[in-house]
Amino acid sequence: MSEATNNYQLNDVMFTREQIEGRAVEIGRRITDDYAAEEVVFVGVLRGAFMWLSEVVKSVDIETRLDFMVVSSYGDATKSSGVVRIDKDISENVEGMHVILVEDIVDTGTTLHYLKTYLEGKGPASVRICALLDKPSMREHRVDIDYLGFTVGDVFLVGYGLDVGQRYRNLPYLTSVKVEA
Ligand code: IMP
Ligand code: MG
Repeated sequence: MSEATNNYQLNDVMFTREQIEGRAVEIGRRITDDYAAEEVVFVGVLRGAFMWLSEVVKSVDIETRLDFMVVSSYGDATKSSGVVRIDKDISENVEGMHVILVEDIVDTGTTLHYLKTYLEGKGPASVRICALLDKPSMREHRVDIDYLGFTVGDVFLVGYGLDVGQRYRNLPYLTSVKVEA
């Protein structure tokens, strides 16, 4: 469906910039404590995770490396296609390394279930998951989220990296959106 056929109605702010940034600081500090003197490779899942990843790593005070994957599981609509496609793999060698996979939202769990298994195949010391949002009501594949921002109900959210039809990723807060066809 072309995005030009949709009108998006933004609702009230659900999580403010201050709430999200506060949570990112807490999580960054927890990661710092959990990994102590170890080095961690953060793997951001693009495009949605870019803002959340940048916020969390600012509060991480251990050796880190940053890498990214580009993945598509959604078209430009609000329904999952259920298929994960890797458009860009990581560039770092993660063998023997601690990896934290950073994602914007866990919905059906298809994407992270697939990516975690995929990265585990590269022989890292560990793979953990850090997600800004969890939408557990939609889960089809089990995903253990080690570091979670917030849990939400069955709503479609935009902002803070999340999009609908590639729009609104730049909003510094999270808001639900109504799609009017
Ligand atoms: P999953 O594979 O069903 O868990 O879907 C994960 C991906 O779907 C996320 O990385 C998002 O790109 C997208 N997604 C799921 N729910 C939302 C939402 O509420 N807003 C924006 N994107 C979403
Ligand atoms: Mg998306």
